Amino acid sequence: MLKVYPNDAELNRFAAEKFVEIGVRAIAERGRFAVVLAGGSTPKGLYRLLASAEFRDRMDWTRCFFFFGDERNVAADDEESNFRMAEENLFAPLVNYRSQQPRTEKVLFGDIYRWQTPSERAEQVAADYENAIVTFFNLSENEFPRFDFILLGMGADGHTASLFPFSDALNVTDKIAVAVWVEKLGTTRLTLTFPAINNARNVMFLVKGDDKAETLRAVLRGGSEPEKFPSQNVKPENGELFWLTDGSAAKFLDA
Ligand code: 6PG
Repeated sequence: MLKVYPNDAELNRFAAEKFVEIGVRAIAERGRFAVVLAGGSTPKGLYRLLASAEFRDRMDWTRCFFFFGDERNVAADDEESNFRMAEENLFAPLVNYRSQQPRTEKVLFGDIYRWQTPSERAEQVAADYENAIVTFFNLSENEFPRFDFILLGMGADGHTASLFPFSDALNVTDKIAVAVWVEKLGTTRLTLTFPAINNARNVMFLVKGDDKAETLRAVLRGGSEPEKFPSQNVKPENGELFWLTDGSAAKFLDA
């Protein structure tokens, strides 16, 4: 499903309503909501909206289990950290709100699974993250997790999570989480793999801005070039895929 919004507020509101709808249903059906958050800057508005008075009481956050689609190999308080971005825009505002309430439950969230960065042994960080996911979902050998909701962004080069063009990580089929050297960035990144992403019940891309318009056209309207445009690899096998964009990013889609 592709939806184009005239402004951030409407885009973020649809995304927040969908997040709550899927989360409430997951908790009702399975007793918990396993959600994968995206990094970068695009999701900030959505995270702040979810933590706002309009949405914060519509979710049972104690049944929410947060994961991250990818992470930079930096400390949790580094300004580049995807965890820090979520902490500042979603977790901390919810904790601050709860701490002002008469109720005194200590536990606010089910759990938050942070990639244990930084590390000189990024492969071990990925292996540990994979093991945490295997344990959480009680997976058997070669089984992939079925997250309820995976939020993704898309870079102007067509990458998603930390699955970059022509990367070895694009073709991994036997792992849930990997460490990958990203030549263009000159750094190692941590990321979920496409089999882990494509086994989700719901996957939602948030894409905004002129700088992504040409790539979004290529990804959605161009030929199949999954190595050049990794976001084309996101095809949930048994799940719903949402592309939420603003007018700037979608300006070439009618072409
Ligand atoms: C990251 C993200 C990455 C991001 C895109 C878009 O670690 O950077 O996971 O995949 O979603 O690069 O980033 P913006 O939202 O900042 O444009």
